[in-house]
Amino acid sequence: MSRLAVSEAAPRAELPRLLAAVRADGSAVPFDEHLAVYGAPPARLGGRLIDLVAASGLTGRGGAGFPTATKLRGVAARRGQKFVVANGTEGEPLSRKDKALLGCVPHLVLDGAALAATAVGADEVVLAVGQGAARERTALMHAVAERTRRGLDRVRFQVAAAPEGFVVGEETALLSWLSGRAAKPTLVPPRPSERGMRGRPTLVQNVETLAQLALVARYGPEWFRELGTHAKPGSVLVTLSGAVSRPGVYEVGLGTPIPELVELAGGTAEPVSAYLIGGYFGSWVAAADAERAALLDSQLAPLGASLGARTLFLLPGRVCGVVETARLARYLATESAGQCGPCVHGLAAIAGGLERLARPERVDRARLERWLEQVRGRGACRHPDGAVRLVASALDVFAREVELHAVGRCSGDGRVVLPTGTAR
Ligand SMILES: Cc1cc2nc3c(=O)[nH]c(=O)nc-3n(C[C@H](O)[C@H](O)[C@H](O)COP(=O)(O)O)c2cc1C
Ligand code: SF4
Repeated sequence: MSRLAVSEAAPRAELPRLLAAVRADGSAVPFDEHLAVYGAPPARLGGRLIDLVAASGLTGRGGAGFPTATKLRGVAARRGQKFVVANGTEGEPLSRKDKALLGCVPHLVLDGAALAATAVGADEVVLAVGQGAARERTALMHAVAERTRRGLDRVRFQVAAAPEGFVVGEETALLSWLSGRAAKPTLVPPRPSERGMRGRPTLVQNVETLAQLALVARYGPEWFRELGTHAKPGSVLVTLSGAVSRPGVYEVGLGTPIPELVELAGGTAEPVSAYLIGGYFGSWVAAADAERAALLDSQLAPLGASLGARTLFLLPGRVCGVVETARLARYLATESAGQCGPCVHGLAAIAGGLERLARPERVDRARLERWLEQVRGRGACRHPDGAVRLVASALDVFAREVELHAVGRCSGDGRVVLPTGTAR
């Protein structure tokens, strides 16, 4: 692996990495300051970048955790016009990590996107950011203008204001919208690497993945692997919220114990009953179980969870998990792209069942569980599966509260804490 290391002057494997240049006031770091902190990206890496990324073991930071080098190879192998799409839509309401990168260190994302484009043979990069993220879009546009003025890149950048919505960031929905159609998921295959934006082979990467790639290109795979575990190397951005003293975006090594991460955020602000891990597509995990686990899918899987959107929400002990999950189920039903029957009708029925349970009214739990089974695996995209997983985990983790509700009681203090606002 050492023959692939590209920089003799790699900084020690300390944290922060991605967030090393972030200014105290959170304003966007201009290009000269960016260079002073991270150094210049290697000029003539070309396709060799893919070997570096493969050796680094970098996996996607947008949710599914797919090996980045495999995706790069898939697009590089195609002929003709190709595109790179940097996915900064961040539709997950609990996540702030992509906005933090775009708003604070936009040049790191642009470096990564330009390097990836050169490696796969694309000459156009589309940076997709949600319409609601005006500050981040402005930072990105200024950064692009700065680079264009200086003639820094071979590739062309275009910043696109994507519609808001939970499903818009799903790659086929995003590509559909970027191709002039509705922002709705399409059936796979064909994969984006085969037929993506405007029918051309397209590399879609989360903006954090691209920023990580920009560091791998500079400092090499060995440096990247100095954090994280052998199987899951590198650092990761995690958004912490709920009952923590200092909610926000934190950069830690993959495999960091969850209690260590919570300590970084100043510890818990009040007693916690459960963690929502991986966002609204994720799972509830009882606090005692979550606090024995580390930030690794291999440790979260036995708890029925995964890192997903890399968000941790700490549910205050006195807030009712059934009421909160009913609110989330309704939100997810509303966010359905409305084109598959099981998703449209199933999620609405599940949300309705949970709302009755939350009120609390007598509800047939077995019927609710039957609906979950009927929806699982039945949509064109993973949206309904995510909603089903969330609701199933709530029925399990909040089983005692479900029983209380079934007899007309609730132990919550009436607060609702999870954001479910949507622009639509
Ligand atoms: C419902 C749904 C919503 C998604 N939203 C996002 C998103 O907001 N941002 C993102 O980067 N990926 C999102 N994804 C994952 C993308 O489809 C895709 O896997 C990702 O952008 C690829 O980048 P990566 O390999 O760098 O992670 C979503 C997936 C699903 C199923
Ligand atoms: S499963 Fe739901 S969100 Fe996914 S494409 Fe079908 S209707 Fe849209």
